[in-house]
Amino acid sequence: MVSPKDFTPGQLRKLAAEHRTDSDLGYRPAVTAIGGRWSGSWGRAFQEACAGVSSFGNVGANSVRFDNARPVGEIHEDYLATTTRKEYALDIDIILQQADYYNCVCAGDVHLGPPECAYDEWLELCRWTIDSPDTGMIFHGDGGNISTTGGPSSPAVDRLPYNEQIDLLLYNLAPLADADCLHLLLSGNHETRIRRATGVDECPMRRVAHELGVPYGGYEQFVRWRIAGASGTETYTGYHHHGRGTARTPGGILNNLVRMAEINRADYLAAGHTHHLFAHLITWREVASDGEIIVRKEPVVNTGSYQRTQGETYSTEKAYAPALIGAASIHLYGSKHSVHART
Ligand SMILES: [Fe+2]
Ligand SMILES: [Fe+2]
Repeated sequence: MVSPKDFTPGQLRKLAAEHRTDSDLGYRPAVTAIGGRWSGSWGRAFQEACAGVSSFGNVGANSVRFDNARPVGEIHEDYLATTTRKEYALDIDIILQQADYYNCVCAGDVHLGPPECAYDEWLELCRWTIDSPDTGMIFHGDGGNISTTGGPSSPAVDRLPYNEQIDLLLYNLAPLADADCLHLLLSGNHETRIRRATGVDECPMRRVAHELGVPYGGYEQFVRWRIAGASGTETYTGYHHHGRGTARTPGGILNNLVRMAEINRADYLAAGHTHHLFAHLITWREVASDGEIIVRKEPVVNTGSYQRTQGETYSTEKAYAPALIGAASIHLYGSKHSVHART
């Protein structure tokens, strides 16, 4: 039921003006028209709002242009709800069928569109992931090349136009989603180019995820696994990021990953973008709950790429080291708390 508190003085003046006749101030008809029940509080609110108003209701500094303008109190409540939000990891529940561990394939940087894409090998990975028991995929972005006029390479290099790149990505990923082994999609800088270039919040990977019915993580996302094995259940946390940075030396690339792992603590970290494929273990000492000083370890992986380094491409023009074609894997054991990376 509407109440006087729902309206600003300007809105009340406007309502009264709309229902005013020669013999009636318009307060009661206005309340009836908006579905309210007349009470003294309505009368007082109208009297206060319309004090000094004669024939024109919508006057002065509190006049309203649109009757659906939000009162500041409503804006305040909405923004408070927006800014006090919490964020959550994606939960993934796995029941192992055959193996001792679940194999999470971390793939990305396929770059559909230009001729140097290792499309046949990417298809083989998709097929293998579906056919292998206890295996699934998290996709790390840069699915399409999506060259834009403002980007570092040119749209002239893409053999497939944008819409065909996205159609093909959907076509490639749909069987994985149908087989229930595509757990999360991330966007890469090539997908977010559209937003950067246009200022419009549009991301094809978000649409792909929506169409496939697969969780969309944006540029990065924490996950929490529950792996049920034959003799128990283990839980793990993981951090997945598209990847960042312009480092080209092995040390620079690894430093980026290690820094990312330091500020996003999890049982493992996987990131792409640099188009290199390797795994590394970071180690540290800490005090266990029983007081013993122990050594801990965390695998960090660079997820690889399906973009070949060939002539007349951006990577040879920039003299980048050739990328190894392939994807990384994280093995999550169900019978013991153990995480391994494979490349
Ligand atoms: Fe990439
Ligand atoms: Fe990238």
